[in-house]
Amino acid sequence: MTATVTFDGAAPAGTINFGIGQPSADLLPVDLVRQASMSFFDSAQPFELNYGVTEGDARFLASLADFLTARYGNTVSSDELFVTGGNSQALDLASVVFARPGDTVFVEEPSYFLAFQILRDHGLNIVGIPVDDDGLSIDALQQALVTHKPAFLYTIPSFHNPGGQCTTAARRRRVVELAEQLDFLIVADEVYQLLYYYDLPPPAYGTMTASGKVVSMGSFSKILAPGL
Ligand SMILES: Cc1ncc(COP(=O)(O)O)c(C=O)c1O
Repeated sequence: MTATVTFDGAAPAGTINFGIGQPSADLLPVDLVRQASMSFFDSAQPFELNYGVTEGDARFLASLADFLTARYGNTVSSDELFVTGGNSQALDLASVVFARPGDTVFVEEPSYFLAFQILRDHGLNIVGIPVDDDGLSIDALQQALVTHKPAFLYTIPSFHNPGGQCTTAARRRRVVELAEQLDFLIVADEVYQLLYYYDLPPPAYGTMTASGKVVSMGSFSKILAPGL
């Protein structure tokens, strides 16, 4: 069959589109979102349609903190959270807040294609760190740290895109140690942390330290609906 991709990027019925990572149309919860919206707007006040606070609606942050605490098995508090329009926008924001044009950032090689574009858009100097079957190469990271002082390391620790591998718990601990010793930030793209079939991946970077050296980015794109 000749596959023509429809206007929304979805493949025709019966075809799996490997060109884009999004839930299959039959998994998108249109009825639940309709019911939730109707129930919300039944009692909504005018302020709901105003700008709101920068970090995100307090009720949503509280509910998100409960969700992450239950899923990560580690207490996440609402004042640690900041809402963005997905992980790509969070990386864009991190590139502005935690780096300046000309700064060096470490990126796994290969990595999520859009990440390169976002980092380049901000004039950042990208240094690639190889990955193997156990995830980010610690030897290569240590070697790169001899000659560079990165503003941050962008890493996809669980179910890497495009490699699919998980960085082991031991390697994650070592990366956190290095970040604390050598003073750089870990920007962890944990978009796939809650998307597994069998074994859980190792604990998210977001649960590993209170030192302020980790920014953990999560998303509902893969587990609920990218359009939300
Ligand atoms: C590693 C990685 N990060 C981020 C994204 C996009 O996430 P979002 O839709 O939340 O921007 C993807 C989607 O393909 C991805 O593979």
